[in-house]
Amino acid sequence: MIPYGAVRRALFSLPPEAAHDAALAALEARKALCGIRQPARVCAKSVAGLDFPNPVGLAAGFDKSAAHTDALGILGFGFIEVGGITPLPQFGNPRPRIFRLPEAEALVNRMGFNNCGAKQAAENLSARKWTGVTGINLGKGAQTPLEEAADDYCAALELTYSCGDFFTVNVSSPNTEKLRELQRRGSLRELVRAVSRRRDSLAAAHGRRPPLLVKFSPDLPDDELREAATTAAEAGADGAVAANTTLSRPAAVRGLAGAAEAGGLSGRPLFSRAVEVVGILREALPEGAMLIGVGGIFSAEDARAHFRAGADLIQVYTGLIYRGPELVDEMLRDFAANGI
Ligand code: FNR
Repeated sequence: MIPYGAVRRALFSLPPEAAHDAALAALEARKALCGIRQPARVCAKSVAGLDFPNPVGLAAGFDKSAAHTDALGILGFGFIEVGGITPLPQFGNPRPRIFRLPEAEALVNRMGFNNCGAKQAAENLSARKWTGVTGINLGKGAQTPLEEAADDYCAALELTYSCGDFFTVNVSSPNTEKLRELQRRGSLRELVRAVSRRRDSLAAAHGRRPPLLVKFSPDLPDDELREAATTAAEAGADGAVAANTTLSRPAAVRGLAGAAEAGGLSGRPLFSRAVEVVGILREALPEGAMLIGVGGIFSAEDARAHFRAGADLIQVYTGLIYRGPELVDEMLRDFAANGI
């Protein structure tokens, strides 16, 4: 196999979004040649009633339109969170909208929920053969006023309900105007109540009640995070995902090309704050709540820091860009040998 260093040099010679599409095309080609791969059972665990074959997931934003789960399954994930999905298709922000900061092993993105819309996403997912756990990240349309946000989340939930094993209410993307205001106590309570009620009525009709999670920003102060976690749980959420990208620019990235671009920062520089946020949420959430740790995970050891802070499961995104497609299998081999 070609070492990832060489592949990475080739991919990094392309604009980030073109490299992303090329990597997905390569995975699709491999699937066409070799078929799909079902998830390896390594450190399998049951969380919130779901059977996770292994605890390593793909973070939201990689497969925006839920069109590549069978191909992405080849990388070994136990679960994949697709989306963010909005009720209607949208293009997102103008390109360029992803920037690499290689010196800091980071990305800045301002994608803005580009996706095919909930109806098409459900069709895409219905065709999948991969049997890992599928999460669906729900967002609000760019044009929808904040006061009507709940309608968007409920509509996207309803249209994709039969395809999702869990759902994430994403109120922490920095790339949809004012979205993060939905993390404020009053708005969050109202929103999570509405989505949770819709989930409960769909559960009654479908005979299946997938967990509902809320994804938080690392930029909320600690006391607001605690309050938001309690509020979300009281309003019907079963857990949380943390953390989304940050608008802050830690010392490690200041001055680097790309750092001044508008958008959310991910990767290495997010790691320590993401672990902190996971710890805060684990303390604030009720016992047994489902908690997914994400942010700056580049190795099994990084994943362990998230587990130690209280995560049940972890996700990767930027680590894949910098470490390559072997990352998941490397982590799983380490977990199999040394435990999590
Ligand atoms: C994201 N992320 C993201 N999160 C989310 O909840 N919905 C989304 O649509 C997206 N879209 C998205 C696009 C791009 C290009 C990136 C890099 C990230 C955030 C992602 O799921 C994750 O929370 C952060 O990237 C932190 O993890 P890493 O990248 O440091 O492993």
